[in-house]
Amino acid sequence: MANYLSTWGVIKAAGISSYLLLFISVSVGAFGYSKLVSVKRRGLLLIIHQWTGWFGFLFGLLHGIVLLIDMYEPFSIKEVLVPFYTDHQTVANGFGILAFYMFFAVLVTSDWMKTFGKKVWRFVHYLPFPAFILSLLHGLLAGSDSSLKGIKMMYAITGILFILVVVVRMGWRKPAKEKEQSHAYITSRG
Ligand code: HEM
Repeated sequence: MANYLSTWGVIKAAGISSYLLLFISVSVGAFGYSKLVSVKRRGLLLIIHQWTGWFGFLFGLLHGIVLLIDMYEPFSIKEVLVPFYTDHQTVANGFGILAFYMFFAVLVTSDWMKTFGKKVWRFVHYLPFPAFILSLLHGLLAGSDSSLKGIKMMYAITGILFILVVVVRMGWRKPAKEKEQSHAYITSRG
């Protein structure tokens, strides 16, 4: 328990919370865009999608900020902000930083969709797919808990579910008319 209250414990807990919340957000978002979901249910799924996306991002931010103050293996601001700059697990951490920027771009363009326009929003809204894969690789390769059976299971289960959701999303796309309705629903809020 004490270990999990240390800065390193907070870094790990925030990283795993961020990963799981972003997994839920990406999966629910992609599934909600498939034909399998009725218009009635879409509203609730959209709320879950947006909240888990924001909280996942905020936990990712906490994860990065606490790395700056950690006493055991402190990161400089440049190491946290510039992909592939750090000497500590360069590639794995580079993936985490890239994923963070991708999720940030999605959140910003979603909340200010009216400013950016539908085309930009739709294009940027494909980023969570590579961003999630980068997060998975980042957690698996950088995480000191990745050798634990439970953590390995977490990556395996979320990875398999993610592939299934992508297949469902690609196989059961919504007709263009329904997509317009979803878009109208999102833009009418906010
Ligand atoms: C949204 C983006 C991110 C997500 C979802 C994420 C997620 C994770 C996860 C799940 C772990 C494994 C924790 C463990 O096994 O104990 C981890 C570890 C780590 N992450 Fe991130 N991360 C993100 C961004 C970043 C960024 C921007 C940095 C900055 C360099 C970073 C640096 C690290 C480091 C150094 C570790 C190793 C911690 C350990 O030894 O367990 N991450 N991250």
